[in-house]
Amino acid sequence: MIDSTLSQVEPSGDTVDFKITGGSLMKFFLDTANLNEIRDAASWGAIDGITTNPTLMAKEGRVDFKEHIHTICAIVDGPVSAEVVATETEGMLREGRELASIHPNVMVKIPCTTEGLKAIRILSQEGVKINTTLVFSAPQAILAAKAGATVVSPFVGRLDDISHHGMELIEQLRQIIDNYEFDTEILIGSVRHPVHIVQGAMIGADIATMPFKVLQQLVKHPLTDIGLQQFLKDWEKVFK
Ligand code: E4P
Repeated sequence: MIDSTLSQVEPSGDTVDFKITGGSLMKFFLDTANLNEIRDAASWGAIDGITTNPTLMAKEGRVDFKEHIHTICAIVDGPVSAEVVATETEGMLREGRELASIHPNVMVKIPCTTEGLKAIRILSQEGVKINTTLVFSAPQAILAAKAGATVVSPFVGRLDDISHHGMELIEQLRQIIDNYEFDTEILIGSVRHPVHIVQGAMIGADIATMPFKVLQQLVKHPLTDIGLQQFLKDWEKVFK
């Protein structure tokens, strides 16, 4: 919940403060490293951040990784996840510090492994924002949160793919994090379709990251298209 105060000057000259309590809607991140998709989605005003991963980066060809992340940060004013590829703590620390130095909005993505947890603990103590990736269970998320992760990313689509119920993990994490008033945010990763977004919002996940295709699907409704066509037809009959 967002609390803010609005000050109003009364005719008497006295200043009265009103406390405004509002909510913050689930944040939408785009799960891509494609600059055209990022620019397009950013122009809708609905994008609060970006997540990339080694697979998404590789799709863009042999770009300069750091430069590419910097360009994304210049387009989107919000967290931009960039993932380490080292698998040992030392390498993760080196890469993580390098990525964090690209831009203040960079969130370093670290996989949920034992080596990753060690790196998360050290980097988070240094003030680096961490997105713990490849999270598939509540115990993994708890460990990541305890290590100091800013965000945990459970991959719901990949759980669905192996006949698990991905959204059940989101429900469990919401309850666990709320039980202990942890600050760690829940980011739904591996989103496959709009229903994941709706269910995630109903559960109260903090963030959902989605491919551009899913973002486009969110706005689409056949009744909107049919209704608009009819409005324009009726208008033309009389006003044209
Ligand atoms: C999350 O941050 C990941 O980049 C992503 O959501 C993985 O999704 P996928 O299962 O579609 O590859």
